[in-house]
Amino acid sequence: MIDLITIFPRMVEAALAEGVVGRARERGVVDIRVRDLRDYSDDRHHVVDDVPYGGGPGMVMKPEPLFRAVEAVAAERGVPSAVVLMTPQGRVFTHAEAERLSRLERLVVICGRYEGIDERVTQALVTDEISIGDYVLTGGELAALVVVDAVVRLVPGVVGDADSVAGDSFVRGLLDHPHYTRPAVCRGLAVPDVLLSGHHAEIERWRRHERVRRTVERRPDLLVGAALSADERRELAQLVVGSKEMGHEGD
Ligand code: 6GU
Repeated sequence: MIDLITIFPRMVEAALAEGVVGRARERGVVDIRVRDLRDYSDDRHHVVDDVPYGGGPGMVMKPEPLFRAVEAVAAERGVPSAVVLMTPQGRVFTHAEAERLSRLERLVVICGRYEGIDERVTQALVTDEISIGDYVLTGGELAALVVVDAVVRLVPGVVGDADSVAGDSFVRGLLDHPHYTRPAVCRGLAVPDVLLSGHHAEIERWRRHERVRRTVERRPDLLVGAALSADERRELAQLVVGSKEMGHEGD
């Protein structure tokens, strides 16, 4: 169960109505509610931000509406297992974090806006501060959608083919191999012969080679933590030896 708190409920709701997540909601496999922070404001004009104490640029999200919103979630849905604040000040989101959050019963996600939120909310309510990367967005909504998407697809029953989730590249620590579909030749570009061969062992060998090769080329940092199979380790060793023989060390 996930409750999102935002000042742009239509933006968040629109994204969560589509695709795999939208279908999971329709089927009742996941329960996601989007709440408009303004509904919890304590003044007639539904103001949710104010100037920062001490001066400086921008506005700060007022504490009272956020306290009231989280209290409403707790009263209506039960005490949350975690209250996540989306902020560029948070730890960077990873697949491991998605797995942890997907095992929680009741999740609240606060989308930060403006220069930030009043620190007392963070102190009193927030259990986890999460960022999705080292760049600045205009608000936490898109980041919250990234987190919710990654978390929801790990909930059993959301993705039809469980193998698809088990084979996720970041589960196994390697990038994915290339994919092709029909036709066999498109704009003069052919599908690799091996994939048309029907030779399953050869196909698996080719895919493994491509996963390791791509990871070495694009994301060597992933190899440090990768739980490689014996075959994958052999593949990696061969690639490293091959690049040394060709004088490509440090490429
Ligand atoms: Cl969670 N919020 C904002 N505003 N910017 C971000 C972010 C979050 N994660 C990366 N950039």
